[in-house]
Amino acid sequence: MTSLTTTIGGRTFDNCMMNAAGVRCQNKQDLDALVASSAGAYVTKSATPQKRAGNPSPRMHTLPKGSINSMGLPNNGLDYYLDYVIDDQRKRPDATNFLSVAGTSLEDNLAMLHQIQESEYTGFVELNLSCPNVPGKPQVGYDFDRVNTVLDKVFEFYTKPLGVKLPPYFDLVHFDQIAAILNQYPLTFVNSINSIGNALVVDPQTERVAIRPKGGFGGIGGASVKPTALANVRGLALRLKPEIKIIGTGGILNGVDVFEHILCGASMVQIGTQFGYEGTPLFDRLAKELREIMNQKGYTNINEFRGKLKTFDD
Ligand code: SIN
Repeated sequence: MTSLTTTIGGRTFDNCMMNAAGVRCQNKQDLDALVASSAGAYVTKSATPQKRAGNPSPRMHTLPKGSINSMGLPNNGLDYYLDYVIDDQRKRPDATNFLSVAGTSLEDNLAMLHQIQESEYTGFVELNLSCPNVPGKPQVGYDFDRVNTVLDKVFEFYTKPLGVKLPPYFDLVHFDQIAAILNQYPLTFVNSINSIGNALVVDPQTERVAIRPKGGFGGIGGASVKPTALANVRGLALRLKPEIKIIGTGGILNGVDVFEHILCGASMVQIGTQFGYEGTPLFDRLAKELREIMNQKGYTNINEFRGKLKTFDD
């Protein structure tokens, strides 16, 4: 049987596909559905210390090739998600999942990570440095000095497996700069990319923006971001030390998209926009489609082609 198994930080996942934080993972029912699905793991909605309502509606709008959103981190607060992952860990001690945190300040992130460090949770934490949708709070991932400061402070005390979710970068020098910073730390993974932030969608009929928050500015996800996501996965794969595994997120609609992310260097992929449209049956369809491609090409596991993208110089 063709295997979709993957390993990150010494933990093995039966399936290299999972949800992306933000979509259908905000409450217990959503997370239970993911546990019952064929996804290899789940990630919880990015938590802030306290419950947050997020931005006013309309805050998400479907586009012909994806979506624009400015949700503003609506979530049930860290305690809710930490209780959920600990309860799940007690029931399924062999399963590793991802707890996402996205403080809107360094102090909030450190306080949440202290709470997680002191808890019995031993799974992965995804530190979201890339939410573009909190008014007045720039994306940390675009401020390289700030990323350095955050990771310095985090790794003064945090010893459990941790990764960061990054925004997309658009210049090869920025790939060099962020990779040089990330390589200094014992990160388990990086997740690339979050939505392409601060885009604007205009409705020519009404002559108005498509979403209410931030005057219409929001993050783009879905099919149209795939080339940017692949560039970021590839750009980081070529620069990060091999211990830091890459989770590829962005523009995955079908098995070919998963295959391309893995070719670029992803050890796992996350699906956001399309998971929102299809729900958990998506993971069965993607697994079937990826297996078909692998069978046609004679691959029996994903390590046989992970990161092996060819260029015209090869
Ligand atoms: C949001 O809640 O605004 C989306 C979270 C993110 O993009 O990180």
